[in-house]
Amino acid sequence: MLRSQGGDMADSRAESAGTLTNRQGHPVYDNQNQRTVGARGPATLENYQFLEKISHFDRERIPERVVHARGVTAHGYFEATGKWGDEPIDRFTRACVFAEPGKKTDLAVRFSTVIGGRDSAETARDPRGFAVKFYTENGNWDLVGNNLGVFFIRDALKFPDVIHALKPDPVTFRQEPNRIFDFMSQTPESMHMLVNLFSPRGIPADYRHMQGFGVNTYKWVNAAGETRLVKYHWMPKAGVRSMTAADAANIQANELGHATRDLYESIGRGEFPEWELRVQMMSDDEHSELEFDPLDDTKVWPEQQFPPKAVGRMVLNRMPDNFFAENEQISFGTGVLIDGLDFSDDKMLVGRTFSYSDTQRHRVGPNYLQLPVNHARNADVRTNQRDGQMTFHVDGAGENPHVNYEPSITGGLSEAGGMTHDEQGPEISGRLTRARIPRTNDYQQAGQRYQLMEQWERDDLVRNMIDQLSQCDRPIQERMVWHFLLIESDLGNRVGDGLGISAHDVAELSPLPKQELTPEDRDRLANLG
Ligand code: HEM
Repeated sequence: MLRSQGGDMADSRAESAGTLTNRQGHPVYDNQNQRTVGARGPATLENYQFLEKISHFDRERIPERVVHARGVTAHGYFEATGKWGDEPIDRFTRACVFAEPGKKTDLAVRFSTVIGGRDSAETARDPRGFAVKFYTENGNWDLVGNNLGVFFIRDALKFPDVIHALKPDPVTFRQEPNRIFDFMSQTPESMHMLVNLFSPRGIPADYRHMQGFGVNTYKWVNAAGETRLVKYHWMPKAGVRSMTAADAANIQANELGHATRDLYESIGRGEFPEWELRVQMMSDDEHSELEFDPLDDTKVWPEQQFPPKAVGRMVLNRMPDNFFAENEQISFGTGVLIDGLDFSDDKMLVGRTFSYSDTQRHRVGPNYLQLPVNHARNADVRTNQRDGQMTFHVDGAGENPHVNYEPSITGGLSEAGGMTHDEQGPEISGRLTRARIPRTNDYQQAGQRYQLMEQWERDDLVRNMIDQLSQCDRPIQERMVWHFLLIESDLGNRVGDGLGISAHDVAELSPLPKQELTPEDRDRLANLG
């Protein structure tokens, strides 16, 4: 029963628990008809209830992510082994999340595709995002990775270009192979990623059956301030499953969101997906003995030399109660690290670290870190940051609420003492420059990947490449065949056959300055014709 305003407020609240109200708490008496002069109108403008309802609806969407717009979040926990393989982990890192055997930390994961909009098909040939937010007692840690282990480029300056090439044409709004391979054929560091992406790995069967990788190189820091370079790998307990283009087309004919549905359904059935987290490690130096740079995200670290060792497992056991609040507003970033974890000088990582929080201040708002899904819920948050659009609360303050500055002797917040965070890792020096890294070696690992594939995977890769490149201009086809021949002659010859281009045809091409090739690549090139 509803009471008129001015009645007994306590009673009126209790009795109207299921009653629709507006955001001001006013009961809504009629949700079917606007207020009009007579039954046929005109409508009146003082109708607050209608205006509030429609103008909130007008603002329901926030900008979708500029990349990774289509995705799904799940919640769960991480359980540490307390070890790196068989060795106590505190020798290598003081990060609280790994410290004790059996220690559990809440987390949220968001899986995604990269290029399509937020309602696009989950069957797309596209890298998959694999972003994990650990809510630790030392603050949040985000590990923002993908399912392929490498990336298209190694310098953040090129990110807008690679994404523009992959996104739809700005005139026709169609994803165009000609634009994609125009860019890639002049970007030899993309070859390793392309060999992966156009193999079946480029279309994971769903999100539960795919690997995840941190991709960029990070550091671990121990209590003595010693640093090591690390790479992260997530291995699905359910195994890895991928699809061919034909499998994907069959699913896409019926639905666009099969991977999101699969996650809701499996967790709904109580089948909680699980991944083991493994870590590769090497000493924190340049490793001049390697044929690649350990800070280059277009490379993997050979597993025999740098074995990935288990440090814990992740279990996903709860889907969002509200997709918008937990999936659209969740905000990850590579700068979000806890004590014991650090950045490397990887030139992509530094660019990513700026980009994520920058876009989130635009996409979600300057106070995005106060939202429940982003808030460091298991740590104390005390800042002197105040105000701004949609401030939800004052972050924890010192004992004197008047003091929102530091330093102060009148009860404000003060710095954490004791840690020498800025005195760790090797010394570095150099002149300011704009230069490629010396050990680019863009073809060797792409070739090794091709050799490691099963025959059906190679066949699928060759078929997919011919299909895409046959939609490209001849000079772009030739440049791609040139790269494929340097990767592995079998790959180059097979794709070339499909396009009517022989090794002889491209022998005189030089899409790249020769000094960017390794001596082995130059030998291979000399023998092409
Ligand atoms: C999302 C930038 C490279 C994985 C994003 C977003 C931006 C961005 C702006 C949207 C974030 C948001 O709106 O919340 C960049 C830049 C890169 C880069 C500038 C290179 C310099 C990479 C690489 C990986 C990656 C190498 C994989 C290792 C992801 C993932 C997401 C994402 C997983 C989605 C996060 C989510 O689910 O909300 N990136 N990215 N990005 N990026 Fe990158």
